[in-house]
Amino acid sequence: MSTSITFEVQPGGVLKGQARVPGDKSISHRSIMLGSIAEGVTHVSGFLEGEDALATLNGFRAMGVEIKGPDNGKVTIHGVGMHGLKGSQDPLDLGNSGTSMRLLSGLLAGQGFDSTLIGDESLSKRPMKRVTVPLEEMGAEIAVTENGTAPLRIKGNRKLNGINYEMPVASAQVKSCLLLAGLYASGETSVTEPAPTRDHTERMLAGFSYPLSRNGSQVTVTSGGKLVATDIDVPADISSAAFFMVGASIAPGSDITLQHVGINPTRTGVIDILKLMGADIEMTNRKTAGGEPVADIRIRSSQLKGIDIPEELVPLAIDEFPVIFVAAACAEGQTRLTGAEELRVKESDRIQVMADGLKILGVDAEPTDDGMIVQGGSIGGGEVISHGDHRIAMAFTIAGLRANQPITIHDCENVNTSFPGFVELSRNFGINLEKGVR
Ligand code: S3P
Repeated sequence: MSTSITFEVQPGGVLKGQARVPGDKSISHRSIMLGSIAEGVTHVSGFLEGEDALATLNGFRAMGVEIKGPDNGKVTIHGVGMHGLKGSQDPLDLGNSGTSMRLLSGLLAGQGFDSTLIGDESLSKRPMKRVTVPLEEMGAEIAVTENGTAPLRIKGNRKLNGINYEMPVASAQVKSCLLLAGLYASGETSVTEPAPTRDHTERMLAGFSYPLSRNGSQVTVTSGGKLVATDIDVPADISSAAFFMVGASIAPGSDITLQHVGINPTRTGVIDILKLMGADIEMTNRKTAGGEPVADIRIRSSQLKGIDIPEELVPLAIDEFPVIFVAAACAEGQTRLTGAEELRVKESDRIQVMADGLKILGVDAEPTDDGMIVQGGSIGGGEVISHGDHRIAMAFTIAGLRANQPITIHDCENVNTSFPGFVELSRNFGINLEKGVR
């Protein structure tokens, strides 16, 4: 039987200090994928030693890639080249990780062997047709369940052809999946996105010397090239930093600095949203690390105010809404999110699960089809359920800073998928948090 982890947060607290949160999840996944199919040895530092990124790492090991580490964030990948992967005997178990499954489906559709991709209960409910439909258009053969979910059974030895695909949803996972398939498809593969999404795949392909072209909202790769091994310095994950950005904003008297955070403009929606709400956020020490912009981010507490969140910021803050809802609960007035129906198909239905939890805590939170309306006010206490969603568990931990009663959060084991050490770091910053194991 698997253990169940519960977080118990005592109300109040002030955040002080500085720290570097763990490595970026999206970049960590991609470093393993591209390093594995590159020629030569890739050295990664700052790798996220969380379960999601490790699922990708173990998947490539199972396909015959020699990977050393992770050891203190250092990983060494002995690339096997574009055509050096070997089929795995067993299904590749990608745990909770949607990024692993969607990106791998593209990479594996063009290989000379069959693959089966499986995941945990949450991942097995998430929509996969958004990747399998365009991949089939390229000539891939992939079987899914009748609900369009994993397991994915991918046939090898298929001849893929490049396509010109207009994505119906703004999804970096779909875009990346098709670009990776495009490396193995004849001719050009172009993907056009309806709104900008994270561009780590494009940046990293360029870092591995693979040519690609960008033209407005369209990106194109041509097969026949090769990836040349490189060194990758993974910045701290802005999605993990976001919990403490909100925490320091809402807990009076707080002043923290988060170091070496990735501030790729396709990821900084949370900073823009918090600033529109009146947050005091300052970025210093800006530099570039491995093709990605990074900075130290200082956050001091301030009285937030409710806003209508601009829809164009939604894809740029897509993973941060659980904790943005907590910021909204502490703001003066009403915050309204629209255009975010994608939140319903994340690790949990983040609109419903957050609204349910906030209501339990006495917050007036009204879920809508594509977002939520939150009236700022006070946060009470009580028992909430994260539904195995790492970011829900962490968001409610942050809510404790402004609660007037203790908050108990159930089902927190998946915090390790993206943020190993969250409990310890939260305590160091000043959150009164206990972890219970059942
Ligand atoms: C990711 C893209 C996003 C995000 C996920 C990571 C990626 O998903 O929610 O956590 O690494 O490409 P979508 O592209 O499906 O919105």
